[in-house]
Amino acid sequence: MQQFPSELKLMPEQASTIAQQVDALFYYWLGITLFFTVLIVAAIILFVVKYRRRAPGEIPRPIFGSMKLETIWIVIPFLIAMSLFVWGAKVYFAQYRIPKDALDIYVVGKQWMWKMQHPTGQREINELHVPMGRKIRLTMTTEDVIHSFYIPDFRVKMDVVPGRYTQMWFEATKPGRYHLFCAEYCGMNHSRMTGTVIVMRPDEYQAWLSGNTSQLSPAQQGEQLFQTLGCTTCHLNGGRDAGGRGPQLAGIFGKPVQLEGGQTVVADENYLRESILNPSAKIVAGYSAIMPTYQGQVSEEQLLQLIAYIKSLSPQSGNAAMTSANAAQAASSPNGQRR
Ligand code: CUA
Repeated sequence: MQQFPSELKLMPEQASTIAQQVDALFYYWLGITLFFTVLIVAAIILFVVKYRRRAPGEIPRPIFGSMKLETIWIVIPFLIAMSLFVWGAKVYFAQYRIPKDALDIYVVGKQWMWKMQHPTGQREINELHVPMGRKIRLTMTTEDVIHSFYIPDFRVKMDVVPGRYTQMWFEATKPGRYHLFCAEYCGMNHSRMTGTVIVMRPDEYQAWLSGNTSQLSPAQQGEQLFQTLGCTTCHLNGGRDAGGRGPQLAGIFGKPVQLEGGQTVVADENYLRESILNPSAKIVAGYSAIMPTYQGQVSEEQLLQLIAYIKSLSPQSGNAAMTSANAAQAASSPNGQRR
């Protein structure tokens, strides 16, 4: 367990590459807010005194407007608002555009714990070991209600939503132990849904990984599931041309897929997930809706493993599609929630 810091700090530690950008924007915003609060309150007090009614029958002088004054109070607030917008957008995109060259870690939330799996197979509960100076991409979902994955010292937070994947990334800059919180009220023990992110030097991280090698990687576990669930009987290499009743899966990740009805979708994590749980939702052009649903037969972790396996079949598991979809989704609502 962590101790509360002995001295009170104004802000949490800045322990990721994004932290300083977020704080600079925050202080700029705070400064503007304070400046105008003081200005407006001072003007109110000054005007109350200066323009008070001095005689019972006093009538104020009529005012016919001032072009100069109106120009000033339109142009200056416009410039300030635009500076906040441009700066905010810059930080927003830095934070929500998920880089491609990142270490993939899978996160499943449930009442009331965090389960993580590393690309090499190691699993952790309420602890996450990551190397310093390396971009980390989290692909997250939940088994029950909405949670939110929040690391204050890194200034990153992302909703973890049932029925879909959300992603976030960070790059830690200092070794140490950092609080991990659930930042979305999720029931009785919400306040105890906490954990620790342990940032290690790269060599220490390698040593930590090699101390826990008995596990299969998510992609290998996905491959086993792919066999035991019988996916291989329909999804042959070569697809229909090879006599398969389902489309070929090798190489599809991140690529556009032509659907029955002329639509095209990009085969990202959320599309693969939907195709496993609700196969008739989007039928690939040239195939029929014969795939049974695997709803209830695979857990959230197994779904992530199946997707990791399908990703691993692709020459390069480019993530640009998911990234832009995520940014658009997050842009459409400030919480990054859709439902
Ligand atoms: Cu999970 Cu609050």
